Amino acid sequence: MHQLPSLNISDKHETRFLLFEALETLWRHASGTATGTPAGRSGSVGTPTGQSVMVVDGHVLAAHRRRIEAAFPGAADRCFEVPPGEGSKSVAMWNRILDFAFAGPLKRNTPLIAIGGGVTGDLAGFAAASLMRGLPLYHVPTTLLAMVDSAIGGKTGINHAFGKNTIGAFYHPRAVLFDTTFLDTLPQREWLCGISEVLKYGYIADPQLLEKGAALADPQSRTPELLQDVIERSVRIKSEIVASDAREQGRRAWLNFGHTFGHALETLDNYRNINHGEAVYAGMIAALFVARHLGHDVSDEPLLKLKPNYGLNLKTYTSQAADLVTLMTHDKKNRDQDIRLVLVADHGNPLVTGIDDPALLRDAWHYTFEALS
Ligand SMILES: NC(=O)c1ccc[n+]([C@@H]2O[C@H](COP(=O)([O-])OP(=O)(O)OC[C@H]3O[C@@H](n4cnc5c(N)ncnc54)[C@H](O)[C@@H]3O)[C@@H](O)[C@H]2O)c1
Repeated sequence: MHQLPSLNISDKHETRFLLFEALETLWRHASGTATGTPAGRSGSVGTPTGQSVMVVDGHVLAAHRRRIEAAFPGAADRCFEVPPGEGSKSVAMWNRILDFAFAGPLKRNTPLIAIGGGVTGDLAGFAAASLMRGLPLYHVPTTLLAMVDSAIGGKTGINHAFGKNTIGAFYHPRAVLFDTTFLDTLPQREWLCGISEVLKYGYIADPQLLEKGAALADPQSRTPELLQDVIERSVRIKSEIVASDAREQGRRAWLNFGHTFGHALETLDNYRNINHGEAVYAGMIAALFVARHLGHDVSDEPLLKLKPNYGLNLKTYTSQAADLVTLMTHDKKNRDQDIRLVLVADHGNPLVTGIDDPALLRDAWHYTFEALS
């Protein structure tokens, strides 16, 4: 059993990361039912899985039902299927999960197992945080993005008309179980979404991830060794940053590299044509332009190499650079008039700075549109 250091949020809570085994083995270890397995500080679950509540993404259930049933015998009877897509991160879907959970026996120690990408993880995580003031939560991430990012760090939540992720809680899972064979069925566009976050880690923490992450864009080079190496490095980076800043007061801001630009693009696009990973990809190119303008020695070459893979054409946004800058000023992470940006001073070395220069930001967008057209 491969296990990374736990993420210790407080004396009372730790998240264990159990990696690279069949799901069945991972769950036996997580639940403390494997022989000789330490059950972790939180104690053994030891619950027959029929008594747990499972929340599973619809595409994942269709493609991996047998694997899931084998790993969690009896759990299929109590399995809530989440319709795929961001639309499921809603108050209505959250409420349906609560109703579903209350329809069967529910105790404060009933485990809730979330199996899917970031949408299912965020939604089910928030349901786990709310039910009985907190059920033991287990994440089984099935997208690359969820494995390297959303399943780590304890952010859970749903969307509201007021904005994305505006309802939620910090609520950490007991364990995250990584079975990479789920990724066999992941569509290429979703791979790229996760790769954007891996490249982000390359810029803010571990330059080796720039090359390794880019290699994952090619299905031929996705060896189990490369995949495991990338996931392990990413999990370490994110969990170390989160451990040092669990409630997002300081270092956790680094994780927003490329995201302030990216969120503006997603908002302008109304979340229709450009997905989150693509927006972050473009956003990192723009942020690196600003960093170079401020005299830092950074290159966007590792990103531009992947231009054919992402296949983005942002030319249609050329006349909307000023609108994008306005949207950036509304970003909830800003203080005062400045736009707070995460940049990189050199590869692997982030910095957070306030920018009060709309013309520079417009130039950054124009550069990005040109570079990606
Ligand atoms: N909590 C956090 O810290 C955090 C961090 C980053 C992103 N997020 C959130 O994560 C969400 C995006 O997550 P995502 O990119 O994983 O998207 P997602 O959960 O929507 O999954 C993407 C698509 O892949 C499908 N899918 C999932 N696993 C599959 C598999 N193994 N095989 C085939 N298809 C599969 C899903 O059905 C969906 O269609 C957003 O809502 C974002 O806000 C949260």
